[in-house]
Amino acid sequence: MAKENNQLKWQPNSWQQFPATQQPIYQDPTKVSQVLEQLSTLPPLVTSWEIEALREHIAEAQDGKAFILQGGDCAETFADCRSDKIAAKLKILLQMSLVMLYGLQKPIVRIGRMGGQYAKPRSANSETRDNVTLPSFRGDLVNREAFTFADREPDPELMLRGYERAALTLNFVRSLIDGGFADLHHPENWDLDWVQHSQLENEYHEITRAISSPSKFIEAIPGEEGQTTARVDFYTSHEGLQLPYEQAQTRFLDHRKKWYNLSTHFPWIGMRTAQLDGAHVEYFRGIANPVGIKLGPGITEEWLLGLLENLNPDNEPGRLTLIHRFGAAGVEEGLPPLIKTVRNSGAKVLWMCDPMHGNTESASNGFKTRRFDNILSELQTSFRIHQEMDSWMGGVHFELTGENVTECTGGARGLTDTDLEKAYHTQVDPRLNYEQAMEMAMRIAGLRR
Ligand code: PEP
Ligand code: CO
Repeated sequence: MAKENNQLKWQPNSWQQFPATQQPIYQDPTKVSQVLEQLSTLPPLVTSWEIEALREHIAEAQDGKAFILQGGDCAETFADCRSDKIAAKLKILLQMSLVMLYGLQKPIVRIGRMGGQYAKPRSANSETRDNVTLPSFRGDLVNREAFTFADREPDPELMLRGYERAALTLNFVRSLIDGGFADLHHPENWDLDWVQHSQLENEYHEITRAISSPSKFIEAIPGEEGQTTARVDFYTSHEGLQLPYEQAQTRFLDHRKKWYNLSTHFPWIGMRTAQLDGAHVEYFRGIANPVGIKLGPGITEEWLLGLLENLNPDNEPGRLTLIHRFGAAGVEEGLPPLIKTVRNSGAKVLWMCDPMHGNTESASNGFKTRRFDNILSELQTSFRIHQEMDSWMGGVHFELTGENVTECTGGARGLTDTDLEKAYHTQVDPRLNYEQAMEMAMRIAGLRR
């Protein structure tokens, strides 16, 4: 299948000739065309220079010379496009990256699930309540969450609203970073109250002491003078799910002779849309961005080889990131065959662990949750398996927020199922809160030292 695809001429819209899963059905095609035409003339959200810089960073991470931290909401919402929420998300990612820089002694490349993470795959196309059946909610880019016919009807205008929110988000992130917000080695600004609840209190104080006198630990990391100064690199990513939106922002750049998706630096293919003969793989094979693929239970050797061949036929460094998400209970069985397959194929990839999506469960009171210990366990097991197989895991992928939500259980404060109702705000999947995310970063720092 991969070979057949490669022989067709790729175009930003050639995916339309392939089966596209997880797409909304719009009632008014004229309206869709009008929206896409507008979207395709609006200025890009990111540039090819930034995208190429990220590709080089990912190539470095593939060689063990850098480490990637990717994180953010499961689903960004239009309502959360606010200064406080954006700043909090940027802050947690920057702080985690400093802790990880200290622990891993490698440059940390930060990628937010931000500025476009507005579309979600769903397990069913429709939802029924009290004998009323309506289209499933697919994220703010597609329709509205309220359970009425008008709200659930996919609305093409929302793609424009999403583009605008993404632009507002990115504009604010860029200003914060340019303005020195990233100069974070002042632990007095960190919310570290939770540390006293942790068994690792002493270790944490040691890390924060080291970070507050950055010269002590930064000098030891070659080439890393820039990492904690006011200016840091920050990249965006989202799942490239809603193909019309992605297509409209795909541009041919004459000076590079390549097509780029200029809505984000790093789009990824979700697990539910990674079919070899599907529309998403067709779209992704033609763009020059570095791309991620989520891999989990069900992936086979043949399928994986097809993805490698189709998405990176020239084995370009930095192009492919494989994001494995098997769950704490499945990683021991699922991961080693993937590592073997990739090694035998000679493909160059970055291995990244998403310890969130394989660990989703229902709490006793019905909340969709994830346990801190399972998330940590999948991470630890993944690091160990890669190490034992002489492979390098060069990145982690989290769903997190900078706020004090109660969506995942466990962590230093030992959140329980009954705590979940206190501040459960996520639109789709449960996220680590500020403290749990910081603790996770500190555990990673400890793990690798
Ligand atoms: C996600 O990252 O929010 C997601 C849906 O993940 P996956 O494709 O791995 O299920
Ligand atoms: Co999710």
